[in-house]
Amino acid sequence: MPQTFNSESSEKVIARIPASTTNLGPGFDVLGLALQLYSTVTLEPSETDSEVVVSGVDADKIPSTPAHIAFQAVELVFKRSGTKRPNGFKLHIDNGIPAIRGLGGSGTAILGGLLTANVLCDTPFSDAELLDFATEIEGHPDNVAASLYGGIVVSAQENRQVHTVQLACPPELSIVLAIPDFPLSTKQAREVLPKSVDFADAVYNTSRSTLLIASIATGQFEMLRVAMKDRLHQPYRTSLIPGFNDVAEAAITNGALSVALSGAGPTIAAYCLEHAEQVATQMQTAFKKHQIVCDIKILKPDADGANVHTSCSRLNAM
Ligand code: HSE
Repeated sequence: MPQTFNSESSEKVIARIPASTTNLGPGFDVLGLALQLYSTVTLEPSETDSEVVVSGVDADKIPSTPAHIAFQAVELVFKRSGTKRPNGFKLHIDNGIPAIRGLGGSGTAILGGLLTANVLCDTPFSDAELLDFATEIEGHPDNVAASLYGGIVVSAQENRQVHTVQLACPPELSIVLAIPDFPLSTKQAREVLPKSVDFADAVYNTSRSTLLIASIATGQFEMLRVAMKDRLHQPYRTSLIPGFNDVAEAAITNGALSVALSGAGPTIAAYCLEHAEQVATQMQTAFKKHQIVCDIKILKPDADGANVHTSCSRLNAM
């Protein structure tokens, strides 16, 4: 028998989801780190037609229609749980994350839709199941896993199931983001990747991503300089990001421990224990030499991941 939508327990459900930076250099589609930069998704049932409202950062670049990926995620939860759908939904995405810049914005929207709809349906799915759904929609697990759980998350997909281990990210680490003023879609940034890679490059990345996790786990931050190097994706993507090499060099020269493309780019992330302000300024200057205007953010890791609550305060799904 289909589950009935539980209108009494959940008038309005609100999820707050952190941005993420992924790959961290060598961990392509595997490693993600949640950041203290957030989007909020609010879902309420409606007696009438559905309405999608997008506000906040880059709202003009995101469709305010049921074609929005968060709305698709809401529909998926109702469909898969067999819960009777209300006539419509009011979905509000208050975006705090620059869109299409490699900071996991689409992943936060997907999670927002899934988490809020799951509460409206009386929580039929576990977080792990929601992560599988989110990965199915997004196409890769790294952003959504980090945004859902917080900290650094290692993900491996086996068939349709995502297996994860979460690791605390040292709070003393600052992440300096140089966010260019042009978008770069993940699709476009994946199209430049080769169909196969050299065996030596595969070994290079396996060694570094493993070293990266071991270094973080044991607090050996000086290892990050070597451990964040990559041969699988960044060399192919730098052609899409004018000034990448100069910006990376500016970060290291001015005191960053390591530097990597944030996700598929175009944002470049530098990891610092000190000198974060100076690193930020010099990354911006280096981009400017290539006629690229960029915004700068200095962020701390998010340790807690997504949270969800209702306006009638009965439920907490996390
Ligand atoms: N791992 C993905 C990629 C992240 O590099 O294509 C996209 O945000």
